[in-house]
Order: sequence, then C-alpha cells, then structure tokens
Amino acid sequence: MKYINILLIVLLINTMTNAQDKTIEAKIDALLSEMTLQEKVGQMNQYSSFFDVTGPAPAEGENKMRYEHIKTGQVGSMLNVRGAKQVREMQKLAVENSRLGIPLIFGFDVIHGHKTVSPIPLAEAASWDLEAIEKSARVAATEAAAEGLNWTFAPMVDISRDARWGRVMEGAGEDPYLGSRIAEARVRGFQGDDLTADNTIAACAKHFAAYGFAESGKDYNTADVGISTLYNVVLPPFKAAKDAGVLTFMNSFNELNGIPATGDEFLQRDLLKGEWGFDGFIVSDWGSITEMIPHGFAADGVHATEIAANAGSDMDMQSYLYIAHLEKLVEEGKVDEAKIDDAVRRILRVKYKLGLFDDPYKYCDEVREKKLIYAPEHKAAALDIAKKSIVLLKNEKNTLPLAKKRQKIALIGPLADDKTSPLGNWRLAAENNIAVSVLEGMQAYKKNKLTHEKGVNLVTEDTYFHAHVKLNTTDDKGIDAAVAAAKKADVVVMVLGEHGMQSGEGRSRANIGLPGLQQQLLEAVHAANPNIVLVLMNGRPLAIPWAAENVPAIVETWHLGIESGNAIAQVLYGDYNPSGKLPMTFPCDVGQVPIYYNYKNTGRPGPQDVVFWSHYTDQTNAPLYPFGYGLSYTTFKYNDLNINKKGNIVNVSVNVKNTGKTDGEEVVQLYIRDRVASVTRPVQELKGFEKIMLKSGESQTIQFMLTDKELGFYNNRGKFVVEPGAFDVMVGGSSAETLKGEFELE
Ligand code: GLC
Repeated sequence: MKYINILLIVLLINTMTNAQDKTIEAKIDALLSEMTLQEKVGQMNQYSSFFDVTGPAPAEGENKMRYEHIKTGQVGSMLNVRGAKQVREMQKLAVENSRLGIPLIFGFDVIHGHKTVSPIPLAEAASWDLEAIEKSARVAATEAAAEGLNWTFAPMVDISRDARWGRVMEGAGEDPYLGSRIAEARVRGFQGDDLTADNTIAACAKHFAAYGFAESGKDYNTADVGISTLYNVVLPPFKAAKDAGVLTFMNSFNELNGIPATGDEFLQRDLLKGEWGFDGFIVSDWGSITEMIPHGFAADGVHATEIAANAGSDMDMQSYLYIAHLEKLVEEGKVDEAKIDDAVRRILRVKYKLGLFDDPYKYCDEVREKKLIYAPEHKAAALDIAKKSIVLLKNEKNTLPLAKKRQKIALIGPLADDKTSPLGNWRLAAENNIAVSVLEGMQAYKKNKLTHEKGVNLVTEDTYFHAHVKLNTTDDKGIDAAVAAAKKADVVVMVLGEHGMQSGEGRSRANIGLPGLQQQLLEAVHAANPNIVLVLMNGRPLAIPWAAENVPAIVETWHLGIESGNAIAQVLYGDYNPSGKLPMTFPCDVGQVPIYYNYKNTGRPGPQDVVFWSHYTDQTNAPLYPFGYGLSYTTFKYNDLNINKKGNIVNVSVNVKNTGKTDGEEVVQLYIRDRVASVTRPVQELKGFEKIMLKSGESQTIQFMLTDKELGFYNNRGKFVVEPGAFDVMVGGSSAETLKGEFELE
C-alpha cells in the first residue's frame, strides 16, 4: 500500500510541476506578444550597479544611463546591488516606471558564503562531504536572498590541472567525477527544492567552457582542448549541473579551439540548448562579448553583437553592446527576431520560476535581513565544513595532535594573526578582518604557553580586490625574533602560505612555492627547532618539496573562511580528527605542471632503464602529494575487495577497518581503468566515493555499483560508448594507495 501511495505522490508532484510549467509558458507567451523589440532587447541587458539608488538620481554619465534604462524597461538584470533596501528601490524603479513592469533579476558572486564566509570552493572540495557542501551553499543562498539577491554566479565548475591558474581556488579541482557530484550539491544548495521560496536563488554553472585549461595557467589565456578531454573531463560537471536543474549558465572569456566561448554556437546552441535540452539562459561573462574584438573574432562592437546573439549568448553582462546594436541588427535581418524571442523567453522563464512576477519584492525584507545575516547556525555550518576541509599531509613521530597542557608553543608566520586572508579571494560581500585567526583559535586552548612572532610580513601594504599583492621580498628583520622564540619552544606552529589575494581571478603565479621570504623564515626556524607543525594557508596546490622533506607535520588548511582559526586549532589539538583528501594534485615542482592523477599511460611509460621513455631527466614524474590523499590521526585498513559482475552491472565491495585508537572519517575511493578502448583511457578514473565514520576498531563493508554510466566514455565524435574488454578496479583512501581487482566486460 505504501508503495502505491509514494507512486501517487510522485505522480501528483509531476502533474503539478507540469501544470505550473504550462502556466508559466502561457504567461511568457502572453507577455512576449506585448513586448516591443526594444523591451525584448532590454531583458538581454545586464548592468553592474555603481550608484546608490536610495540617494538622488545620478545626474550624468554611465550611471545616469543605467538609471534611465531601468525606468524605461531596457534592463533585465543588475549585478552588484546589495541590501534589501537598495534592491527594493532598484526593483521599484523598474516595476513602477517601465511600461510592462517586468521585474529585474539581481545577480551577485556568492561563491563561498556571503557575509558568513565559508571555505574557498577548492577547500570545500577537499572535504569530499557532499552534504556539508550542499549545506554551505544553502547557508550562502539564505544570506544572499536575505540581502535581496536572487541569483548567484556560482557554482564555478571548471576542471583544472594547473595550480598556476589563480582560479583553481574557485573550483572543485582536477577530477570530473568529484567535480560533477560537487556541482550537483552546490546547485541543490543554492536552488533548494522550492524556487519560489524567499531563501532560494538561481544558480549559474560557469564558465562554459574549458576556462580551466588556459594555457600555461595564465588567466584568460587560450584553451586548446582535444575532443576526448573536452567531452570526458571539461563537460561532465556542466552536464551534471544542467541535469541538477541549474537555471543559468555563464560562458567564458577564453577561446576554445579558436572560437571565443561567447561566440561559440556549437557550445551554446547545438550542445547546451540543443543536445542537452537546457531551458534556462546563458549570461556572458563580464564584457566577454566586447572581448571578441581583441580575440580577433569580431571586427567591431556591432559584429560582436551579431555573433554573440546568433551564437546563443542570451544576456550581455557589461558590454553595453546588446542595448546599443541588437535592435538595428534585427531590423537589418542580421539577427533573426526568433532568436531574440528565444533568449527573452529563457530569461522570463527564470524570473517566473523564482516567483519574481508574483512578488518582485519578496527578497526585500529588512527585518529578515537583520535576523539571518551572521546567524549562529550559519557560523556553525562554516566551522563544520572548515574542519572537514583540512587535509593532514604529514604527521611523523605523531607530532600531532598537540598536547593540551604544559607545552611551550611558538606560533610563527605572517598568516598566523591574519584575519582577512582566510576569507579567500571571492569575498565581495564580506567585511575585512572578520575571520578567526589561527592566533585567536590557538588562544582558546589556555593550558599551554603560547608566544607569537610574525617573522616576516607577507606583503608590504594591504591589498584589495582590484589591486595586485605587493610582496615583501626584502624586510627580514623579524626573523631573529622568530628564531629566538622557536629556540625556547617545545613545538613550533608555523602558518605560511598565500595572501588571500594571491589566488583568484587575474592572480596566476608562474612559481607556486611559498611566496616572499617565507621559505627563508621556515629554514631559519627549522635550524633553531626542527619540531615544526607547518599550517599551510593557500588558494592552490603549492610546490613545497623542502618542507615535505624536512618538516615533521604539515596540515593543508587552504583559506577556510570566517571560522578558520577555530577549525585549525581544533584539528591541531585533536578535537577534530582531520578527514580531508586532496581534490587536486600537489606537484614537487612547477615544472611538472599540468600534473594530475588521471593521466594517460603513453606508448613509453616508465620507469625504464633506458633513456627513451616519458620522464624528466631532472625531476621525478611523481607528485609531491597525489589526488585523493590525506592522512588521519588514526589508521584504516582495506581488505576483502570483492567484484561481482552481473551482465553490465558490476558490484564492488570492500571492507574498511579503523585500526587506530581514534575515531575517524575516511573517504573510500573507487577507481577504474579501461585497459584497452577505441580512445585511450586514463590509468585511473574516479567512479565512486563514500565518506564514512568509523570508531576505533570498527569496520564496515562499503558497496559500489558500476554501470554503463561509470564504465563508458565519450569517443572522438562526442558519442558516449561502452566497450567490452578488461577493466582494473582500484579501491582505497588515496588514488596512490589501493587494493586492486579486475573484471571483463562482455
Ligand atoms: C568576473 C568573473 C565571473 C563573475 C563575473 C561577475 O569577471 O569571471 O566569474 O561571475 O565577472 O562578477
């Protein structure tokens, strides 16, 4: 009886959803039929707000233009407007002045938290905890919606294998399977299960596509990607976001195989809107329509407008080109009005789904805003995922966890008392100086004697979003005091890494070691007292071979957000047993980059005694720390790997035991290798994972199921195929340490 009830409920929900969709489509048809061409083009126009709409109307310049266009229905969306009051005033301008009163949609970069800043996305990916990641996005959406926003330009789902690229901090690392699961979790978190609610916002899968494959890791650089990598590595997280119901996409600045994404009809129309059936809208990235001119793909602004509109870029972010040229291009027959109607239909559909037509001011409640921003439960969620994002890279002689009493601890390093860098790069809505520093987190443990020395400054002056970091490369005066403090300590905790603005957009680095004078500080302190716990605070994998060799304990803490110092201290003192695993490979040397675990075997794999195989003469092929790697304060033993194939379903099980004295979490990872295929396959591919908690001595059998979806791949015609043949199966707590098995697919 229960099954029938469930079936009836599902049927009822589907029927109601379909009915709601039909109602929305009918409303769109009706509205579209009333709109002038100018009003349609207006919906495709997005401005950033640089004026205080609660103040007097801007008297001249671009702000005056934006203000007037809002009132005449020539703006469909605004970005960078914040605060329930501001948004209400801006929305009133549109709804109460324009002829049809179509509401604006307000977008913002809500990338990792909003006011309550959570760990950077790459850090959250290191948690491998999809529930915590979804919760983090839910909290961010709740605070953003409380501030009047109804659309975030997230999740960024760009796969990248290049730690030189500044925006690796914003993604989920190098693997398409992990990246896809995290994309789904973030879309669920932002959009929730009721888009008409006042705490759910539209998400945006970006940057479509292959932005993370910018050559030499230089931001905005050329991306030249083969069909197999495009379909099997770059596209899967975008497809996962689309299948999870993401309402919008954002295209990317880069050219992909010679065509700027903004002008790529194959990507946007044939693939995304055609083959994948995406019914939301695509917003260009900031000015990317204009940028087709320097790309050498458009002769001028008019040409760029024509290309972008025909290629399926539905909304123009800050190029001012659609508003300037699109009407005339339609009148000249260079852009078919049917394409305009399609773009506007998509934009209106998202606004209807968000309930903006029912109540344009539903997100503008100042009482709710005050209640929800920085709510205690938001900080608790930020702390929870921060702890789960920390990766223990090394712990020789059980240096960690620290004893909680009668210890003399020297806390050293320029990031030890930094209350802003832990907030990371994408923190537009956050206030500076609000993160709990490591110093503050450690001070909460009062039974030890704690001294603190900066050692060196990381930068020579404060740095903000639009400015470059000015590194301190000369002033080493503080090293002596740091060395003196180290000499008197039982254990030294050093907090080194990157300033919050050394990763993120426009912040690629050619060298990915410890910046500034930090390596010098580390070696000087080590000479005085080698009993060091190195706490890394960074937005990308770092090449730190000296530290890996000489420092007994190393903890990767990324930029962990507002609760950073508390999370780090609780891990260092063992109040939380670290459970993170690397979502991106750490190289020994930047010369190895791009380096990743799911590489191809080549025709000359190694190691070999002869010269002629795929290797360097001056560096190992091996990473410093591999994908999926992370230690714990306990140990886990894997055994009883069983593989049981029934037709094309392969069931894999493994037993995992906590063989240490401490309860702990483990991320059990399943990899496959398709040994022989019509397109070469990687030596390893992640196809399943499960994060489990095991008490000391406890064991659990974990089950995985491999189906066509996991065993197949895209061939060089973009077709998904499953081919017979031998497969290897690998299961373990890291890509580099697994039990092995095999099966034959008929
Ligand atoms: C930026 C970024 C994009 C962001 C947009 C709006 O240049 O590339 O990720 O969402 O502009 O701020």
